[in-house]
Amino acid sequence: MKVLMVCLGNICRSPIAEGVLRHISEERGIKLEIDSAGTSGYHAGEQPDARAMKCLKHHEIDISNQLCRQIKSSDFEYFDKIFAMDRSNLKDLLSMCPEEKWKSKISLFLHFEDDVHRQIVPDPYYGGEHDFERVYELAIKGSEHFLNLQ
Ligand code: 4NP
Repeated sequence: MKVLMVCLGNICRSPIAEGVLRHISEERGIKLEIDSAGTSGYHAGEQPDARAMKCLKHHEIDISNQLCRQIKSSDFEYFDKIFAMDRSNLKDLLSMCPEEKWKSKISLFLHFEDDVHRQIVPDPYYGGEHDFERVYELAIKGSEHFLNLQ
């Protein structure tokens, strides 16, 4: 199973989701290929945001080896699951997807929540430490839900 986490910049939310899913899947002995990407390429080639790295380091997860990249057309064929952090990412992914038959791979990461407000991972870019911690908590929730289905 190959999983791709997607947000706008690929420096805050999706690198955290990638790191957390990798950490929990390794703990559980579940083999997954995990990557992340941004719908935009503004930060391509950069490390994750320093605040995202600091937040995860605090939880003993190292994401400093991740490098930001923009989503590419072949990702839609290659990955089995493509998780969007918010509705804008979801809309962009659906419009970028080159084949109708691959659209079923794309969903919100927190799609299982009943309350629509709880289905999104809020962008912490203009926020503070607390907002990054919230992303971490939501990444745990989404990862555990996904892994419980494997
Ligand atoms: P992300 O956060 O989508 O969670 O990586 C953002 C990172 C950068 C920008 C916006 C959101 N930006 O506008 O540069």
